[in-house]
Amino acid sequence: MLAKIEELLQEVEGMSAGNAEELEALRIKYLSKKGAINALMADFRNVPADQKKEVGMRLNELKNRAQEKIAALKERFDNQDNNTEGIDLTRTAYPIELGTRHPLSIVRNEIIDIFGRMGFTIAEGPEVEDDLHVFTKLNFAADHPARDMQDTFFVESNAEDVTKNIILRTHTSSVQARVMEKTQPPIRVICPGRVYRNEAISYRAHCFFHQIEGLYVDKNVSFTDLKQVLLQFAQEMFGPETKIRLRPSYFPFTEPSAEMDISCDICGGKGCPFCKYTGWVEILGCGMVDPAVLDACGIDSKVYSGYAFGLGVERITNLKYKVKDLRMFSENDTRFLEEFESAN
Ligand code: PHE
Repeated sequence: MLAKIEELLQEVEGMSAGNAEELEALRIKYLSKKGAINALMADFRNVPADQKKEVGMRLNELKNRAQEKIAALKERFDNQDNNTEGIDLTRTAYPIELGTRHPLSIVRNEIIDIFGRMGFTIAEGPEVEDDLHVFTKLNFAADHPARDMQDTFFVESNAEDVTKNIILRTHTSSVQARVMEKTQPPIRVICPGRVYRNEAISYRAHCFFHQIEGLYVDKNVSFTDLKQVLLQFAQEMFGPETKIRLRPSYFPFTEPSAEMDISCDICGGKGCPFCKYTGWVEILGCGMVDPAVLDACGIDSKVYSGYAFGLGVERITNLKYKVKDLRMFSENDTRFLEEFESAN
């Protein structure tokens, strides 16, 4: 009898349970009515009288240990699973910080909205492009300085035949070339996207930035249409008092070409350091699509004409939010980005 008690005592000391079911099985095995300890209790009356005292003590000890052990294990599970008093389980684990929209995205979306209301749809194209779409089809002569190493990042350069070069697009006009190849007029698209130029990074230049280009091709499209659309855009973007002016300029793919200024919204046109005392700030390039470009992209220039314009999203954002250092846009400093929290 004593030997049996010792054996059970050792088992009880070594007891462990991985979950509540295992614990219950242990309780039944040792402590239930038909359990091992009760069986010994029933045998107790057969113990010779002179041993009764010692066996009785040991038996009680076994029972107490078993109860203690099971209670201790139970407490462990209770703490893990159910002890939720005073804890609000519906609370989020930690404060969830809402991200803020990037200023360039805010402005890009606003520009897309404005042109969207005028009937322009979005077209996109690859950032790694071939020379054909960035330059050749857009009427850049093979020795045009814009193909120079200064401006263009080369992925694969071909010394004998520049038109086989693979490059990072330097403007989103490449998307216009792709759209014109695929679609016959009427075409009315805007092409937002990132572009790359091999420039030294400073507060006013970066090796990548964002453009939105517009293209409209149909019968009888004239410069007047272009001017009206750009005036509408400028007034929606910068306020109804905004004036525009077009200065003659040069782009290989448009003829005639122009650059557009808006009246300086800091001094209202009177002249200030921001507009270098001219009262005007430049915001985009534009022009009538050169017939050679239409033809190169498979559109009959005798039947159709078109206009195109291109603007820099960083430039417009600088004007709207007076951000002085272009590098802020790509540094991901949350103190800067959070400034735009409520903007959209
Ligand atoms: N692609 C020109 C640039 O990157 C902008 C432009 C687009 C000018 C369309 C005229 C027409 O500077």
